Amino acid sequence: MSKDTLTVTDNRTGQTFEIRITDSTVRAMDFRQMKVSDDDFGLMVYDPAFTNTATCRSTITFIDGDNAILEYRGYPINVLAEKCTFLEVAYLIVYGELPTQDQLDEWTRDITYHTYIHENIKKFMDGFNHDANAMGMLVGMLGALSTFYPDAANIADPKSRELQTRRLIAKMPTIAAYAYRHSLGLPYVYPDNDLTFSGNLLSMLWKLIEPKYKPNPILERAMDVLFILHADHEQNCSANIMRAVGSSHADPYSAAAAATAGLYGPLHGGANAAVIKMLTEIGDKKRVPQYVKRFKSGENPLMGFGHRIYKKYDPRAEIIKQTAEAVFEVTGRNPLLDIALELERIALEDEYFIKRRLYPNVDFYSGIIYQAMGLPVDMFPVLFAVGRTPGWMAQWREMIVDKEQKIARPRQIYVGARQRRFVPIAKRSASRKAAE
Ligand code: ACO
Repeated sequence: MSKDTLTVTDNRTGQTFEIRITDSTVRAMDFRQMKVSDDDFGLMVYDPAFTNTATCRSTITFIDGDNAILEYRGYPINVLAEKCTFLEVAYLIVYGELPTQDQLDEWTRDITYHTYIHENIKKFMDGFNHDANAMGMLVGMLGALSTFYPDAANIADPKSRELQTRRLIAKMPTIAAYAYRHSLGLPYVYPDNDLTFSGNLLSMLWKLIEPKYKPNPILERAMDVLFILHADHEQNCSANIMRAVGSSHADPYSAAAAATAGLYGPLHGGANAAVIKMLTEIGDKKRVPQYVKRFKSGENPLMGFGHRIYKKYDPRAEIIKQTAEAVFEVTGRNPLLDIALELERIALEDEYFIKRRLYPNVDFYSGIIYQAMGLPVDMFPVLFAVGRTPGWMAQWREMIVDKEQKIARPRQIYVGARQRRFVPIAKRSASRKAAE
């Protein structure tokens, strides 16, 4: 009869241990009892980059990467992207249930109410150079936000957690738009609380002298869909940072600033900007085969391809492709789409990509849409961060109330020197290796 245990024999001692398996997982701490002597620390598990380590139990997002399934709180992503607004999905991600009309009205009112940012934040923004990267500005602004809301440090108070959740989701578009306006030298546009979440963002980005900005409904909906697709993605790099920083009981704005810094990198949220740079450099469909050769050398990864979890088509990429077609009806076709489609076609037939199960991820097409809308590449990861904020807050809230969580503090295998004899400076030789 099968048992939910793992029998381990430590061949160093001949001892046998029975380790419990729960949810197809063993607990790393169960290995600590395996020692060669009483003063031995015990066996550790080694997993750089957490490739096979679960760090939490979560009810927020389910991904089955082998079967291209993504669900928020059990609802398939394609259904949510088709039938919901971003704020409805944000509510679902944060609270676990789709809202009733009354709940959605109250949530929308609260988010709308909190869209304004303190006037002094604008002064911070003014301190940046005109060519400062928008994502760098966002990281700085989020860190600054924690100083405006010292009550956020009270992370043990559920009411405070509630308030910060609404505040942060509401203020992200305002900060994002201000970063954009600052880079153009345009005056900041105050939030228009009559508009939808995405409509208001478009207004803050693009409003000029018209008394009331009327967002194009297709672009407004496309923005909402992109935010829905980016709203959460379980324990990705930035969510893990949100949890790790939050585990020290730092306030959620500081944790979100750190998560945003994680998202900044080209291997994560910065990939959508890197894709556009790459497609622009390729420049022509005919040059795709020669570039594919370069990507296979591993020297330059094919940006927007590959994923730690998805080993089949990223389900979000398919929805984004459809959204792109709708946007192009308004903006005109982005010529980079043809290069992207050719790149996808050739890569998906190439042995290198087939063997490694590399498919386009969400960011292969999102930048093409943002660019067609007229946004600069620096803004792409910023918009990703706006969409991801409900996910970060939900991950943070789940972590705070999880009794099993403690301050995140991995172990290491120390492989450096020990017990060295101190040498006075006059007697030292230059033995240090060249800086890495
Ligand atoms: N182009 C070429 N080769 C690749 C690519 C790529 N984009 N991605 C992975 N590979 C190769 C690796 O070199 C490795 O080859 P090897 O087995 O011969 O050493 C193999 O495929 C396995 O890949 P890993 O690097 O082990 O996969 P990992 O899970 O560590 O990395 C990542 C995932 C970072 C997303 C990677 O695929 C990548 O760099 N992609 C490009 C950047 C990108 O698009 N990032 C956005 C991800 S989605 C998001 O964060 C929102």
